[in-house]
Amino acid sequence: MPFFENTRKPEGFGGKIMLAMMNSGHSAMAQWGLAHIPLAKDATVLDIGCGGGANIRKMLALCPQGHVSGVDYSLVSVEKSRQVNRKAIADGRCDIVEGSALSLPFSGERFDMVTAFETVYFWPEIETCFGEAYRVLAPGGCFMICNESNGETSKDDKWVEMIGGMTIYTGDQLRTFLANAGFTDIHMDKNAKGWLCVTARKK
Ligand SMILES: C[S@@+](CC[C@H](N)C(=O)[O-])C[C@H]1O[C@@H](n2cnc3c(N)ncnc32)[C@H](O)[C@@H]1O
Repeated sequence: MPFFENTRKPEGFGGKIMLAMMNSGHSAMAQWGLAHIPLAKDATVLDIGCGGGANIRKMLALCPQGHVSGVDYSLVSVEKSRQVNRKAIADGRCDIVEGSALSLPFSGERFDMVTAFETVYFWPEIETCFGEAYRVLAPGGCFMICNESNGETSKDDKWVEMIGGMTIYTGDQLRTFLANAGFTDIHMDKNAKGWLCVTARKK
């Protein structure tokens, strides 16, 4: 499998290397994205497409009395996330499960916050996936999408050519999908690097 395919679904040894790279390479963007959302100290959070689990670790630090769950359809990602967050898992503050954004393995209305860092590019039937994020959020809960690529420049075309099944969405496209899935109060921010952060609320 070509190495960069591991961004869509990490597998095997190449997947392990990619996860280590993403845990450090996405750190600044995740930090920027997290500054957009108010995380209560006792928040319950779900990170979809959690990859190597570094963002789960960041959120556990932001909500010391809270609980952070992670879900990813790659077993290699699930294993790495569990390893990175093993202390919080042992303390009962974190759980990581294998599953797809298309059919989240969680009951409805149970999270205050759902996050998706660098992953919606790969989700099939994106409005159905956003509907799943909506379903698991408690009323008033927030969904945050944070992407390094914003779909407005051809400089990112190389990624779409290199990685099968990848679509880079513009903020306006994401806004439409979110509204169609039922979200309201949709806000967007873009920084000088082109990073995109979209937040949306469940009524
Ligand atoms: C580029 S990595 C980003 C990982 C992590 N969120 C980060 O920012 O470092 C994308 C992750 O999303 C996961 N993923 C992609 N599509 C998914 C889907 N439909 N359901 C669950 N996980 C998915 C992949 O397995 C991978 O771990």
